[in-house]
Amino acid sequence: MPAPIRKAVFPVAGLGTRFLPATKAVPKEMLTVVDRPIIQYVVDEAREAGIEHFIFITGRNKHVIADHFDVSFELKHTLRERGKQKALELLEQFRLAPGKTSFTRQQEPLGLGHAVWCAREMVGNEPFAVLLPDVLVKVERGCLAQMIDTYNQTGGNVIAVEEVPEDQTNQYGVVDVEDAGTDGVYHVHGMVEKPAPGTAPSNLIITGRYILQPQVFDYLEDQETGAGGEIQLTDALMKLMKAQGMSGLAFEGKTYDCGSKIGFLSANVAYALSREDLADDYRAVLKDLLAD
Ligand code: UTP
Repeated sequence: MPAPIRKAVFPVAGLGTRFLPATKAVPKEMLTVVDRPIIQYVVDEAREAGIEHFIFITGRNKHVIADHFDVSFELKHTLRERGKQKALELLEQFRLAPGKTSFTRQQEPLGLGHAVWCAREMVGNEPFAVLLPDVLVKVERGCLAQMIDTYNQTGGNVIAVEEVPEDQTNQYGVVDVEDAGTDGVYHVHGMVEKPAPGTAPSNLIITGRYILQPQVFDYLEDQETGAGGEIQLTDALMKLMKAQGMSGLAFEGKTYDCGSKIGFLSANVAYALSREDLADDYRAVLKDLLAD
């Protein structure tokens, strides 16, 4: 059995420019899908996969993320006084245990690769997971749990991949693979960040979930900038892949890119329609709206 994946890194230091003005004072990761912030879904996915320590790479304006996972003494007190037992239980369900979270500031949003590099001392010398909070994967068994199943068999580095229409590959990191092996696990032998239209090696994109060996920090160390002038995680992944190999898991589930407006709106509809307490009423509202 390979070393267990105990720690997960959540890069939440981006500027969220596509959601301005909403993200001027509120972090993108705190925008809500139905009734909980996006980051909550991703942390829950990590918890379900057995992650024990949660590392947040934050920036200015992001302190509410730490507050969200903390105990709110005043709120608890008021709810208890008012006999709101259900609300109290709900809050308790989402709390992360004391000592199981770490927060560090990226200081400058120099790119996703730089954000992950900021976690190097907290991760130390063990394999770890990275989850991009703006990607939600809606599925019975979470995407990271599926990846850990694969990792337990393959060891090494595992990234989540999925197919997109060819005309969208220029928006993502794209992998070059050999034919799929068993259980949707690909052998990745190349990758490129945001390839120019018509030049992508496949239509399989990197989806925002990674299981990585700690040597990735050595490759991030040189702070080399890539596409868009940012320190790209994909560039370090390429070097890691060449040195150690990498598997790509075509996971089960439907992805919502909540970094884009359409993805975010779609996630709200999809998650609301799968909620027992909302589905019927919401479906009726949607029908009315669409009939107009
Ligand atoms: P994105 O590029 O989707 O997020 O990065 P962004 O930069 O916040 O959004 P736009 O493009 O300006 O609208 C994916 C994830 O990586 C984090 C972001 O917070 C997001 O969760 N990130 C990105 C960092 O933590 N630091 C960075 O320097 C860049």
